[in-house]
Amino acid sequence: MLALLGRNGVGKTTLLKSIMGLIGIRSGSISLDGQRIDPLRPDARARLGIGYVPQGREIFPRLTVEENLRMGLATKPGGSLVPEALFELFPVLEHMLKRRGGDLSGGQQQQLAIARALAAGPKLLILDEPTEGIQPSIIKDIERVIRMLAARGDMAILLVEQYYDFAKALADQYAVMSRGEVIKAGKGSEMDADGVRELISV
Ligand SMILES: Nc1ncnc2c1ncn2[C@@H]1O[C@H](COP(=O)(O)OP(=O)(O)O)[C@@H](O)[C@H]1O
Ligand SMILES: [Mg+2]
Repeated sequence: MLALLGRNGVGKTTLLKSIMGLIGIRSGSISLDGQRIDPLRPDARARLGIGYVPQGREIFPRLTVEENLRMGLATKPGGSLVPEALFELFPVLEHMLKRRGGDLSGGQQQQLAIARALAAGPKLLILDEPTEGIQPSIIKDIERVIRMLAARGDMAILLVEQYYDFAKALADQYAVMSRGEVIKAGKGSEMDADGVRELISV
């Protein structure tokens, strides 16, 4: 569980999109489990086990909750079922399967975006500011789910976050970006001592 922090506009989302393949890289390389993935298209990267929860959620507003979840299975063989375990993580979604994504609250849409990314069983889950614009009670739910996923130990998690306390509560490791570069990195337990809060406060 790596928390990637940094002020607005330093390039966090750009880095995540590069990892997912939504934008190309000009130099360097990106590997997953020792395999170069930077020449691959986003769908191929998804098939290799990267799940992506974009900033702003980007659920499909006119599709139902169930259809949104099935989109998360697009890399799996036809007829694959939405894993029941998702509804243990996010019970609210089970009650709303036939509702349109766009009719959900912001917090519910964020839970749907996370569930969609989990549907295919990724080995790397990438989350871009999952608490942005979400009410505190649902932030707690999301924190609990991320903690549970991390504890399961079968998935790496890359979390971009501006909300310091949320990141600190979850991070095994942290990295801070400024102007397109990682300027500081260390253990999550040392974020206070390393002055990370000051580095990202505006
Ligand atoms: N390494 C980089 N070099 C130059 N420009 C960059 C770099 N990374 C991001 N940008 C640009 O900076 C702007 C903000 O980037 P973004 O990734 O949205 O930041 P954040 O998610 O940290 O708020 C975008 O216009 C992006 O194209
Ligand atoms: Mg961003």
